[in-house]
Amino acid sequence: MNTTQDLSKGYLDIEINPSLDLFAEIEKLKKEKNAIILAHYYQEPDIQDVADYIGDSLGLAQNAEKTKADIIVFAGVHFMAETAKILNPTKKVLLPDLNAGCSLADSAPADLFKIFKDKNPDHLVISYINCSAEIKALSDIICTSSNAEKIIDSLPKDQPIIFAPDKNLGAYLNKKTGRKMLLWNGACMVHEIFSLEKIIKLKIRHPQAKLIAHPECEEAVLNVADYIGSTTQLLKYSQTNSAAEFIVATETGILHEMQKSNPHKTFIPAPPNNNCACNDCPHMKLNTLEKLYLCMKYELPEIIMDENLRVAAKKPIDKMLEISRAAGLIG
Ligand code: 13P
Ligand code: SF4
Repeated sequence: MNTTQDLSKGYLDIEINPSLDLFAEIEKLKKEKNAIILAHYYQEPDIQDVADYIGDSLGLAQNAEKTKADIIVFAGVHFMAETAKILNPTKKVLLPDLNAGCSLADSAPADLFKIFKDKNPDHLVISYINCSAEIKALSDIICTSSNAEKIIDSLPKDQPIIFAPDKNLGAYLNKKTGRKMLLWNGACMVHEIFSLEKIIKLKIRHPQAKLIAHPECEEAVLNVADYIGSTTQLLKYSQTNSAAEFIVATETGILHEMQKSNPHKTFIPAPPNNNCACNDCPHMKLNTLEKLYLCMKYELPEIIMDENLRVAAKKPIDKMLEISRAAGLIG
């Protein structure tokens, strides 16, 4: 068996004995290797259930920063595992499937972004964490959907800003903060395809339901939402709001935790403008429990980074964590 980092498929393709209890095996491997599993809410339910921490991008970055584990197993997409590696150069960071990318991160190629940035030399660059390490290295501050407003508000009102790569989140933030940030023209394939028409029909059929939406959604969807927030903020809202029904306009993975923590409430995934009833991120869903087990057993695939790039990408992430701490958003 070839267990070098040169994995032609991006994951280990090894047959697993079907009688193995993968949940128990993963727990055993965690202890044996002093490994921690950090998972995003968009991961499949089985992965969320074996994770040590499930969270939004800010919570995941903070947990990656403070963990004492020797191995970080990142059940999420590449930019998330890369962020964990940037913060932990001496730790082994594993991603069950190296092909788990992100359409939003891909919408900002670093060479084109550099030209855009050079054309606006008086602008500071705030980049959403959903971007490559190369884009992070070209940025002044990183943000996530749960701290973006505070990060923008920490800058003088007259400071020109470039916001990348998500134009929908950027437009939402321009509205919220009264800024005129220059927006990079990127978007997330999952949040862009919600159907306003189908959502409105759902709202008519469920008049008491609250529509909750992620700010990566298009403006037309956000305009009819009762609450807008990061995945963690949407989850908290579903726990604290007294409504019995929620229409959820974000990736469907979050419904697992919403349903688990609110067993008597009903969660309806907002429909996309195709023939599917719900909206999965094809990148997030590349990770499976089997791949998670193999990646922990063989400690592959691993995130490897160029040290100069890592150091340059760390600066704007540190700045984000510093502002978030000062604003009381993280401990
Ligand atoms: P948050 O979990 O930070 O809200 O991000 C959502 C997302 O699209 C991650 O890919
Ligand atoms: Fe990227 Fe969108 Fe998938 Fe999140 S949901 S990983 S932003 S493609």
